[in-house]
Amino acid sequence: MTSYSSAAHATLHLRSLSKQTPRAISSSSISETPSIKLPIKKIPGDYGIPLISPLKDRLDYFYFQGRELYFKSRIQKHNSTVYRTNMPPGPFISSNPNVVVLLDGKSFPVLHDVTKVEKMNLFTGTYMPSTDLTGGFRVLSYLDPSEPKHAQLKQLLFFLLKSRRDHVIPEFHVSFTEMFEHLEAELAANGKADFSTPNDTASFGFLCRSFFGFNPVDTKLGLDGPGIISKWVLLQLGPVISLGLPWFIEDPLLHTFRLPAFIVKSDYKRLYDIFYENSDFVLDEGEKLGICKEETCHNLVFATCFNSFGGMKIFFPTLMKWIGRSGGSVQRKLAEEIRSVVRSNGGKVTMMGLEQMALTKSVVYEALRMDPPVPLQYGKAKRDIVIESHDTGFEIKKGEMLCGFQTLATRDSRIFEKGEEFVGDRFVGEKGEKLLEHVLWSNGPENGTTTLANKQCAGKDFVVMAARLLVVELFLRYDSIEIEVGTAQLGREFHSGVEEKILNPGKMAKTQCLKSFCLIEYADCWCCQGNGICHATQADCLKRC
Ligand code: HEM
Repeated sequence: MTSYSSAAHATLHLRSLSKQTPRAISSSSISETPSIKLPIKKIPGDYGIPLISPLKDRLDYFYFQGRELYFKSRIQKHNSTVYRTNMPPGPFISSNPNVVVLLDGKSFPVLHDVTKVEKMNLFTGTYMPSTDLTGGFRVLSYLDPSEPKHAQLKQLLFFLLKSRRDHVIPEFHVSFTEMFEHLEAELAANGKADFSTPNDTASFGFLCRSFFGFNPVDTKLGLDGPGIISKWVLLQLGPVISLGLPWFIEDPLLHTFRLPAFIVKSDYKRLYDIFYENSDFVLDEGEKLGICKEETCHNLVFATCFNSFGGMKIFFPTLMKWIGRSGGSVQRKLAEEIRSVVRSNGGKVTMMGLEQMALTKSVVYEALRMDPPVPLQYGKAKRDIVIESHDTGFEIKKGEMLCGFQTLATRDSRIFEKGEEFVGDRFVGEKGEKLLEHVLWSNGPENGTTTLANKQCAGKDFVVMAARLLVVELFLRYDSIEIEVGTAQLGREFHSGVEEKILNPGKMAKTQCLKSFCLIEYADCWCCQGNGICHATQADCLKRC
């Protein structure tokens, strides 16, 4: 979907972080006339009885089947990865829940072709949240590239990201060092630590610091930022998510009528004011581009808090989950790769260094392939077109709504060998890199470029970099991690496919050595000589080593 509601949003409990030990350290497959003559078939499925069938489908989707089974059972029923069905919310929030779903890697990319599909007001699917939640403005994510404002606002975000690019690596280090220190204290006290809440705090702090140069904790927001954002996002996404409450309570409450925007009005104002006070350089640039300061600021709040924070809130726990599950051998190789590149760059994490980390890059892409953080995308046919799945062509009429569930498209076994399995080094090497064409998390191919003319994520490169940095920070500090995947925070349907089990519960190694800062053999630490009671600070280490 075009929203973050689809959070594969695992709550992670770290069971163990083992400190470093003494080791050395074309996309479009769509054509109006199919290139290879595939048989054109009628699209299977129907929309059933108005009102009743969309309601029944909604209950199946959220409660009686769950999202993945909702799609998969109908693939079996229709013997097709393209078919007609209803998507939530349906009555009485969206006027038309009818869609044609695309569930394979060949038909899905039509959603990226803005000459064929319109992307106006469908970021959240078949309904759009009230603009009262964004200051009365239709923010960038809801604009089609044919609207002049789209290019202006996207240009402004490119300006922001470019102006602040040198702050990304240092600010990430600051925010996530704080997070790991917090996790270590929790682990020491309780034997396990929740990842999600500290990740939220670190991600929000990192975004505010790296984009705008302020630490939210030092403002009037204090620690309230992530909580306010969650409430504000809930009002936008409530109709398309489940919180895991009993269906007869939750469905009437969340999916039948819109919750009024005034519930978060004063909280949202607190966010807006802080951003307004701290973003002069972007507000001024916006004015030069012809955008008033209010509109710029509401867009900054949305891009930072919804697009960026929402994405990191979902994706970082997912990434940790896959790293945790990838096992000792992959973790060991990651640690070796990361430490060796950092060592060869004089102990520094640099953009060039990140580029040299082939396995780290691949693991991030693989996590994005397995669990795209925003798995549903929508597009409305601009004209009559033909869409091809692997074996069949389908005629789509102008105005029909297309909906792709990306998780099935990017696990398509006719594109990816062992598509349902996490293969850490899948994208290493020339052959592996070619497959990036089919990694679609950013609303476009991973080897494509986000431009003013398309709807690919404005933060594509930023996200990939931040995710690599998380892996780097992790393995500069620890040899291995063990995780327990818990209940999803934003609803259980987003959780399907995630097993809840403890992976090798263990104890955190009690070593306190800070050798990760200087990247030397543990036993050679100038401070503790490997006895595990190192008192060195990072500054000491850098000075000495
Ligand atoms: C893990 C993090 C992120 C994920 C998973 C993500 C995903 C996406 C997706 C799927 C879309 C397309 C939605 C659609 O139209 O169907 C999108 C659009 C967008 N994203 Fe991201 N995003 C992330 C982070 C960011 C960041 C850091 C920014 C910061 C600038 C950003 C800014 C945007 C904007 C402005 C759009 C609309 C682009 C346009 O209208 O052309 N996103 N994102």
